[in-house]
Amino acid sequence: MKGELPGGYELDDDRARIDLDEVHRFISEDSYWAAGRPRETMRGLIERADRVVGLFQGDTQVGFSRTVDAPDAGLTYLADVYVLPEHRGKGLGVELVRFSVDEGPFAANRWVLHTKDAHALYARFGFAPGERLLERSRSQP
Ligand SMILES: CC(C)(COP(=O)(O)OP(=O)(O)OC[C@H]1O[C@@H](n2cnc3c(N)ncnc32)[C@H](O)[C@@H]1OP(=O)(O)O)[C@@H](O)C(=O)NCCC(=O)NCCS
Repeated sequence: MKGELPGGYELDDDRARIDLDEVHRFISEDSYWAAGRPRETMRGLIERADRVVGLFQGDTQVGFSRTVDAPDAGLTYLADVYVLPEHRGKGLGVELVRFSVDEGPFAANRWVLHTKDAHALYARFGFAPGERLLERSRSQP
């Protein structure tokens, strides 16, 4: 499944097109949530994900999201969402989340995600703080 965006950008959920080196570079070096994540961990997460979405400009990967569906728990989890800093502020984050959540095979599911900011972006797609959600945290690169 693909989506064309203005400015030569493209969304694509073809797992084979994901640039592991680039996604690992961003997540391990520049993300606040999984700094230091090993490359093999990132590879496994991409392989086992129920869906990965890449945001591309030409052949260059400039954004990413990873979806894990847990039907036995009745939820679908959105993770590792990013747009490279030099491509932010153009509406690409909104389109990446729309494609990942609203336009994929899990659109009708109950979704959960973690973020420390960008709440307004996610609110556009119905994400709100959960009144009944409890979390047991642990450090996990
Ligand atoms: C969050 C992120 C994906 C947004 O990408 P983007 O391409 O800049 O987003 P958009 O241009 O589509 O912006 C959409 C809206 O969200 C807002 N927004 C974007 N990033 C935001 C942030 N970090 N905090 C608060 N609001 C944010 C924008 O102001 C914009 O609002 P507007 O339309 O009212 O002006 C990008 O900032 C990013 O990669 N951040 C680092 C990774 C991250 O924090 N991920 C979330 C954890 S899963």
